[in-house]
Amino acid sequence: MLLNALGVHLVLVQSTRHAIDSYIHEQGIANTHHGNRRITDETLLKRIVELACRNGLVFRGLYMRALHRNRGRSSLTSGNFVSAKPVGIHEGIDHKLTGSVRRIDASGIRRQLAAGSVVYLDHLAHSPAGELYNLASEEVAAETAVALHADKLVLMGETPYCLDQKGGRISELALSLISTIKSNQNDEMKRRLDATERAVRGGVERCHLLGTGLDGAILTELMTTEGTGTLIASQPAASVRQGRIDDLPGLIHLLAPMEENGTLVQRSRDKLEAEINHFYVIEQDGRILGSAAMYPLDDRCAEIAALTADQTTTDQNIGTKLLKHVEEQARAKSLQSLFVLTTQASDWFKERGFVMSSIEELPENRQALYNLQRNSLILKKEL
Ligand SMILES: CC(C)(COP(=O)(O)OP(=O)(O)OC[C@H]1O[C@@H](n2cnc3c(N)ncnc32)[C@H](O)[C@@H]1OP(=O)(O)O)[C@@H](O)C(=O)NCCC(=O)NCCS
Repeated sequence: MLLNALGVHLVLVQSTRHAIDSYIHEQGIANTHHGNRRITDETLLKRIVELACRNGLVFRGLYMRALHRNRGRSSLTSGNFVSAKPVGIHEGIDHKLTGSVRRIDASGIRRQLAAGSVVYLDHLAHSPAGELYNLASEEVAAETAVALHADKLVLMGETPYCLDQKGGRISELALSLISTIKSNQNDEMKRRLDATERAVRGGVERCHLLGTGLDGAILTELMTTEGTGTLIASQPAASVRQGRIDDLPGLIHLLAPMEENGTLVQRSRDKLEAEINHFYVIEQDGRILGSAAMYPLDDRCAEIAALTADQTTTDQNIGTKLLKHVEEQARAKSLQSLFVLTTQASDWFKERGFVMSSIEELPENRQALYNLQRNSLILKKEL
């Protein structure tokens, strides 16, 4: 509701998988899958229709309540926006009433969105001949996102994120790496990864895989750089690496305008060359998009300097990524705090955990080099 109020056009796709699995388990019915797809016979379809209708009604109730509480006005619209076709017979196995997406009525959905409605789709859809099919909700979501040229696809499930080999969260993943990590994931996540691959290859730039168990997961993922799930993007995320001598031309190109307008201290080419090992950069297609240097001051603290993001590159959180990287490096060196001296970006650092400090707090060797004329603010972050 909040996203809708913020002007985000929302299409929601219902999944009944969990309820169907419980039903099958309770009834002791043999689990009928072929690969990742459920085989739906007539009896099961009847039950799925009941479950999907019940879920739909519960959701409408919750939506109505939220609408009333927030004095919202957007209506929840459903319709025959998805048409289905039978999956048919695969490897000799008849999938019966299991279907797949035949067509999405993108213009019909767009009209509803333009009128301010939230569109609600379920995973049951008719073929043009009027036969009802049970579709995978992930497929409906991915095909709808592709048909609408959506900016984002968010797929929620019980598993909150993709796991790396050590069992930690993968917060960001390039499309090209999905196949590498897939074998580490459970079946539920694999299904979502297949849908994600389809959507990103179909032109959806960003897909978020999130957990249903976490309150506010969507807002946290969309509104913060940390997030709680896994983001899969069409472009490999530019990553931070150590600076190299061959970065010098790109680095000078990046820093020069900031040095000219006085935001950063001037560094000659020779100085940069001598200090290149202190630098970290983000490079994409041979272009240096950002830089940060870390100078150890003593065995307890270091200074972050020349933190710069290419001003033409927006939405990539270059500065935040570099800062995080420097913080990780400092922690790895068992340093306890980071200082920064800045004339223009004190708020930016404060928003990332730095607090105001003073010359006296700097190690003596750095105090002696403090440039009184620049009158930079000194900030500090405990690591
Ligand atoms: C500070 C700087 C590195 C941030 O890089 P960035 O890649 O734009 O930062 P991120 O994308 O991670 O964060 C963007 C957010 O920071 C805000 N921001 C950017 N520069 C800011 C500044 N100087 N003061 C306060 N906020 C700033 C943006 O408005 C944006 O906020 P929003 O998400 O609410 O819209 C970059 O603006 C820069 O190169 N500044 C000039 C050099 C400098 O002063 N460096 C610090 C001294 S070493």
